[in-house]
Amino acid sequence: MAHPGLPYRVPMEGLPERVTIYEVGPRDGLQNESAVVPVEVKAEFIGRLAAAGLTVIEATSFVHPKWVPQLADAAELLDRLEPAPGVRRPVLVPNERGLDRALEKGVTEIAVFGSATESFARRNLNRDIEGSLQMFAPVVRRALDAGLRVRAYLSMCFGDPWEGPVPIAQVVTVGKRLLDLGCHELSLGDTIGVGTPGHVTDLIAAYGEAGVTPDRLAVHFHDTYGQALGNTLAALRAGVTVIDASAGGIGGCPYAESATGNLATEDLVWMLHGLGIETGVSLGSLVETSVWLAERLGRPSPSRVVQALAH
Ligand code: HMG
Ligand code: MG
Repeated sequence: MAHPGLPYRVPMEGLPERVTIYEVGPRDGLQNESAVVPVEVKAEFIGRLAAAGLTVIEATSFVHPKWVPQLADAAELLDRLEPAPGVRRPVLVPNERGLDRALEKGVTEIAVFGSATESFARRNLNRDIEGSLQMFAPVVRRALDAGLRVRAYLSMCFGDPWEGPVPIAQVVTVGKRLLDLGCHELSLGDTIGVGTPGHVTDLIAAYGEAGVTPDRLAVHFHDTYGQALGNTLAALRAGVTVIDASAGGIGGCPYAESATGNLATEDLVWMLHGLGIETGVSLGSLVETSVWLAERLGRPSPSRVVQALAH
């Protein structure tokens, strides 16, 4: 008999009833594609993700177009999006120039993105950690004044390809400074996917000791070493209820060595639904979307669930 394409539902104690999936495929996924994806494909991708039930979809980045040419069409993309009531569509913004461009398009939510290490701050933002915090401060202030929601990302929370292990105290110090700027949420990024579940537990506990409760945290795992779902379970047990994922498992960061695919949204949904946790997402529609996108990108999705369910 064919498998029904859904996990058996077996809840586990100590986990949240509902999780918000913060979908990053159109941004983190497509920023790393070698070919530039046509703007109409991006717009259709975002529409399909919303139709599959995702309520937070990071649409694009207002970064320097020479730094990330794949997302140079950010303004045109936003012009093409159909209104989607109930769906949040944040964008990445590094500096005031990016904020001006985003405000011109009427965005209501942005994300700044810092680094826990000096090496990656320089490579990704062209300044040191202090300089990047100074760059973000007026962005966050102006965005909050304009009534926007502001998320902060923190990259290299579990390891750095140039510096190796990153001390937990350093990750907490920089993350707290991002939150103190006025960001409502901090997404802890395992940019190169080296973290393991005990490390996740310890990092979230260290934030707790510093006064940052799990309701202000999100996690952003890359699946380079196959650890993303194990790490997600550790984060759920620690009380985190916002999980970043990328449809089909596409993506990575062009400025981080060895940053491969994000945690695939389908793999995440399979685990969450199996645990009886609500997401509002239709797994079947999501798989269809990733199969559709894979055809456009010219290669199969790396997601295990997409591979198992695609016909
Ligand atoms: P810079 O070269 O230092 O910029 O880049 P600048 O402030 O010196 O300005 C130089 C010129 O660029 C000026 O033009 C600016 O107007 C222009 P000129 O006066 O010379 O004609 N400029 C811009 N134009 C358009 N949009 C802008 C913009 N900013 C400046 N926003 C900058 C500094 C931050 C802009 C650059 O380093 C940059 O764009 N970096 C982005 C890198 C990036 O997008 N990386 C990927 C996202 S992070 C990620 O993937 C990790 C994450 O997923 C979490 C995880 O996995 O860990 C979030
Ligand atoms: Mg990422």
